Amino acid sequence: MWKKLIFTVVLVAFVGVRFASSLTCYSCNDATSCKNPTVQTCSNATANATSDWLSTYHNDVPEVGGSQSFLCANLTYYTGPQIPPTTPLGPNNTLTSEFLGCAHPDIRICARNLTDPDARAHWKSHCGVCYTDNCNYDGPAGTFSGSAYTIIGSISALLLTKVLS
Ligand SMILES: *[C@@H]1O[C@H](CO)[C@@H](O)[C@H](O)[C@H]1NC(C)=O
Ligand SMILES: *[C@@H]1O[C@H](CO)[C@@H](O)[C@H](O)[C@H]1NC(C)=O
Ligand SMILES: *[C@@H]1O[C@H](CO)[C@@H](O)[C@H](O)[C@H]1NC(C)=O
Ligand SMILES: *[C@@H]1O[C@H](CO)[C@@H](O)[C@H](O)[C@H]1NC(C)=O
Ligand SMILES: *[C@@H]1O[C@H](CO)[C@@H](O)[C@H](O)[C@H]1NC(C)=O
Repeated sequence: MWKKLIFTVVLVAFVGVRFASSLTCYSCNDATSCKNPTVQTCSNATANATSDWLSTYHNDVPEVGGSQSFLCANLTYYTGPQIPPTTPLGPNNTLTSEFLGCAHPDIRICARNLTDPDARAHWKSHCGVCYTDNCNYDGPAGTFSGSAYTIIGSISALLLTKVLS
């Protein structure tokens, strides 16, 4: 009986760690797709895709062979008056580029140099990184996914207890 209980606890802990290590982030790469972003699971492949996208605008994206952990990023460029980071763009701002996705921490996505001199002179940015599932977008689904994982975790724990008893 005790053996089974300990086994269950260890297994549930392991399941919890697995969930924690596969970070998910909202993903989109222009103003249109960012109105309805999809969710991606972070991996070397999805983070590489972010580096590739960044390289189309920036000349100094470091090449990263692979990462053990990832972050979620959102990067918006706009023109017009400077807007405080958490305030939406105003009527005199134009969105020039928008991106959400998984990234390698080592590329330091918020500190990249724009390649185009005109963009470098006139574009302003809002850039944020964060480390929890779907944290890179203010959508209502963000908190939902978090609780969905918890519910799945509880159900597996219940099932396991039944199977093992
Ligand atoms: C990611 O990119 C790095 C550097 O270009 C490369 O070495 C690595 O194989 C790529 N990994 C995946 C999973 O595509
Ligand atoms: C990404 O690639 C690196 C180097 O190949 C590897 O050490 C690391 O475990 C990989 N990360 C994931 C999450 O698979
Ligand atoms: C936008 O620009 C117009 C014309 O320059 C100006 O009158 C107005 O106050 C500006 N609005 C904001 C919110 O900055
Ligand atoms: C950004 O890139 C431009 C053009 O490649 C270069 O002249 C400039 O020195 C770079 N700025 C920084 C801060 O790296
Ligand atoms: C970008 O992420 C930050 C958190 O890092 C969040 O406060 C901000 O609202 C996000 N921007 C968008 C457009 O979702």
